[in-house]
Amino acid sequence: MKRVTLHQLQVFEAIARSGSFTRAAEELFLTQPTVSQQVKQLTQAVGMPLYELIGKRLYLTDAGKEVLIVCRDISERLSQMEMTLADLKGLKQGNLRLAVTTTAKYFVPRILGPFRQCYPGIKIFLKVTNRKNLVERLTENLDDLYILGQPPENLDISLCPFLDNPLVVIAPHNHPLAQEKNIPLQRLAEEPFIMRESGSGTRMAVENFLVKHKATLNVEMEIGSNEAIKQAIVGGLGVSILSRYVLALEGINGPLTILDIEGFPIPLHWYILYPATKQLSIVAQTFLEYLLHEGKDMAAQTDAALK
Ligand code: PGA
Repeated sequence: MKRVTLHQLQVFEAIARSGSFTRAAEELFLTQPTVSQQVKQLTQAVGMPLYELIGKRLYLTDAGKEVLIVCRDISERLSQMEMTLADLKGLKQGNLRLAVTTTAKYFVPRILGPFRQCYPGIKIFLKVTNRKNLVERLTENLDDLYILGQPPENLDISLCPFLDNPLVVIAPHNHPLAQEKNIPLQRLAEEPFIMRESGSGTRMAVENFLVKHKATLNVEMEIGSNEAIKQAIVGGLGVSILSRYVLALEGINGPLTILDIEGFPIPLHWYILYPATKQLSIVAQTFLEYLLHEGKDMAAQTDAALK
């Protein structure tokens, strides 16, 4: 075990996470033979196989899973140490690993701009993915902080709501119902509907809403991206229910509009969260405080522009 090096563990973690030697090599700016060599040496030091290749897929053995837990533990401790030392030096510097859902991407990057102006020494890694993948990342403790619309129920997390996140019915601006008020919910069922993919928090909220109102929709299409859904709506393929924030840039005077359907908007919130047992780095703590104070104002301005 004494022969195990940090570099080997880092390479193994990248392979386990990406499921591929090639991707790990690209990510770490190494050649593939170097990556293979590092894992070979790690396997020899551990004395047991760490993975199996079945077809083209890589599966971790039980020993591999144990090694992966240690890799993540060490990397977490090292980044803690880096942050603590940076703070001792009186500098706000280090890394901020943020994971947000595909809907939060419409305002989080804007908040990051002024945040980074205040703390130029902080390097930001922003992961954008749907709710299901984000909850998986949270379980694996891959990031510092997570922003999403519907927090998981069965995990031990620290949670802060910080902003409203209304879900609205979006249609093309020239839709026949665009000028109507208080449209009955049943009328929406007559429209071709574009649904987000399974695993999306938006879809989960829509499904909960339908159960609550004993309503159905005429789902004609499933698309795994808010932006692609917006384009499909403009293209006349149907209407959809999305966060009002997806209109943050173009507003409601562009090619898309919000229909005034009975029961809408669906009132959700944005939450920032992290595992309850996690000790936040100084940088993550700083961002959390920033978001709760100043970011909240900024996102609220975006929100007001859409009313
Ligand atoms: P998603 O995000 O639809 O991209 O998963 C919505 C949410 O945060 O609940």
